[in-house]
Amino acid sequence: MTYKLDKSMEIFARAAKVIPQGIYGHLTPVITVPGSYPYFVEKAKGSHLWDVDGNEYIDYMCAYGPMILGYANDKVDEAFMKQAKKGTCVTIASPLMVELAERLVEINDCADWAIFAKNGADTTSMAVLLARAYTRRKKIVLADGGYHGTQPWCTSNMVGVTPEDRKNVIFIPWGDLGAFRRVVEENKNDIAGVMFTPYHHPTFADQVLPEPGFWNGMREVCNKNDIVLIIDDVRAGWRLDLKGSAHYFGFKPDLACYCKAIANGYSISALVGTEKMKIAASKIFATGSYWFNSPEMAAALACIDEMEKIDVPSVVRERGLSLTNGLKELADSNGLKVTISGPPAIPFMTFSNEDNFMRSQLFCAECAKRGVFFNPHHNWFISAAHTEEDIKKTLDVADKAFKEVKKQFGD
Ligand SMILES: Cc1ncc(COP(=O)(O)O)c(C=O)c1O
Repeated sequence: MTYKLDKSMEIFARAAKVIPQGIYGHLTPVITVPGSYPYFVEKAKGSHLWDVDGNEYIDYMCAYGPMILGYANDKVDEAFMKQAKKGTCVTIASPLMVELAERLVEINDCADWAIFAKNGADTTSMAVLLARAYTRRKKIVLADGGYHGTQPWCTSNMVGVTPEDRKNVIFIPWGDLGAFRRVVEENKNDIAGVMFTPYHHPTFADQVLPEPGFWNGMREVCNKNDIVLIIDDVRAGWRLDLKGSAHYFGFKPDLACYCKAIANGYSISALVGTEKMKIAASKIFATGSYWFNSPEMAAALACIDEMEKIDVPSVVRERGLSLTNGLKELADSNGLKVTISGPPAIPFMTFSNEDNFMRSQLFCAECAKRGVFFNPHHNWFISAAHTEEDIKKTLDVADKAFKEVKKQFGD
């Protein structure tokens, strides 16, 4: 059967007339391989998605992280729908908000309280306000190439951003404790907070895990200088450790931001923090039209229950190891050198002897047309719905894709 994307392309042509870029943001065709990937989905279930042309894919992007238990998970969907029948966006708050906050306080290492919102960027932006409110200082330290959302204070796209928006933001390389010590010294009593992801997961680059001692060193410098240590766990949260990725790496932040996998795809995010941050947290203006919707809270509670029950971090780690070990062996047997980076549950693969991603693009496009969805430029995600059978099929496809790379590039 030949691989066809006719309907995707047809709808995309319509989209381009009425939507800037046709499809914008992280779903833009530019971030995969234009022309080689489906653009529109028909349905998704478990670890698979079907595009509008009827092609089926084992999906290793998991909606860029939110899907952790499998698409259309019965337990989470039922919880959402049951609550939705009682009202979605209502004039007063639901007790489910309290139940969910209690659950996060019980489960997460650094949570003594929680505030809920919709997107990851809501929580990272609140964390910045909160660090400033707590310290009465202005400056925030971020990592080069880190991603915390589309807001002017942090976006990687500078179109429409003014120098004033960035006046109080200092960028340093992720994982460079020496650089952090230097900026703290150079900006004595002026740094409100530092926001890092628990490990570095930039787009268009290998992922970087922390060096031993890095996080304890950061904690020490923050303690000594009254700087708020903020962990952006929006992407990695729930896949490494249900107690939080900071717990996984052995330290305790003051604030942590959650979103993606918290409700298996329903739109809810959470900012959590330690007791000392609670009074400042009650002073910032935190709200949004849909932030109090209770069906998403019901979905999050059901998702957390299920993640605990099946011990999601162990499952996704094991499946991730099967995938990444298999890919390494296949690359080797095809005479190709690859770099697998990041934790097994959130892996990424690049070809070691290139920096232009052309081999990655060919490899991923060849996988897509054979029913396996990887992104050549962005890390992948494993879910608890990926089966050993999925991994086996994926490796069969990957072998064929590696052979195409070998044929076109030689090594
Ligand atoms: C680490 C990290 N922080 C923040 C965000 C922003 O989340 P959202 O897109 O939900 O605003 C993302 C989204 O990909 C992310 O990966």
